[in-house]
Amino acid sequence: MLELKNVSVNVSDGLFIKKKKIIIDDISFTLGDKEALGIIGKSGSGKTTIANAVLGMTKHSSGDILIDGKLLSNFSNMERAKKVQVVTQNPQNSFDCDITVLKSFLEVLKIHKMIKSENPINTLLYPILKDVGLGNIDLDKRPNCFSGGELQRLSIARALLINPKIIILDEVESMLDTITKIQLFNTLNNLREKYSFSYIYITHDIRVLPSLVDKILILSSGRQVDYGPINLLRSSNNPYIKELRDNIMMEV
Ligand SMILES: Nc1ncnc2c1ncn2[C@@H]1O[C@H](COP(=O)(O)OP(=O)(O)OP(=O)(O)O)[C@@H](O)[C@H]1O
Ligand SMILES: [Mg+2]
Repeated sequence: MLELKNVSVNVSDGLFIKKKKIIIDDISFTLGDKEALGIIGKSGSGKTTIANAVLGMTKHSSGDILIDGKLLSNFSNMERAKKVQVVTQNPQNSFDCDITVLKSFLEVLKIHKMIKSENPINTLLYPILKDVGLGNIDLDKRPNCFSGGELQRLSIARALLINPKIIILDEVESMLDTITKIQLFNTLNNLREKYSFSYIYITHDIRVLPSLVDKILILSSGRQVDYGPINLLRSSNNPYIKELRDNIMMEV
């Protein structure tokens, strides 16, 4: 359903317009229906750049990005948003801090022309909030009145509202405590089944992936060093993966 074929992103290198800096280089993967892919790599390895390329926020310099067989460049912004949604590391930044969270939700419904019933809050919004574990939450408050974990779930609810085919989660666990993380991971797996979406889970924490994804793409300095089923994390002899594994051993 999502396919990246030899995708690279270059940017001009500061003052030297003609000199290019390669941010990601020759990335290829597929993401099928209801599949979950983990992208793992050190800080600066290009994970968010891949996400931004799929979201159409960063233009790729070469290669193809296809969704349901159609080139990403042939989608309008609205069409693309209906297919791919993102949940970022800092949900505070993705909600407008000047309006209540309820207003933010209603704006999404309006923009995507999804207000078909008289009471979309009850028919559309509350069932989703219940599914993300926020059944009784009062949305008539501004984003700063919610905890990080609540805002993270609210971002997932807002993404689900559009009924996307793909959700990209970019280091969503990094601000959460262990219990909230586990709750979020369980929620994600249940939601994937119920709402039939695929997701890309971006992280630099090797420990979170086995419970979350079916396959992984390992990045190092913008290049994919490995791509395959999740058990690659255990079996790969790639020096970078070995280093990640050794780091976990040292922590235990
Ligand atoms: N528009 C840009 N212009 C110049 N350099 C960029 C641009 N976008 C990204 N980079 C650089 O490309 C590299 C990859 O950035 P990216 O944000 O994709 O990394 P990441 O793997 O998501 O890192 P992190 O784990 O810290 O979030 C970084 O060195 C970054 O500074
Ligand atoms: Mg990033």
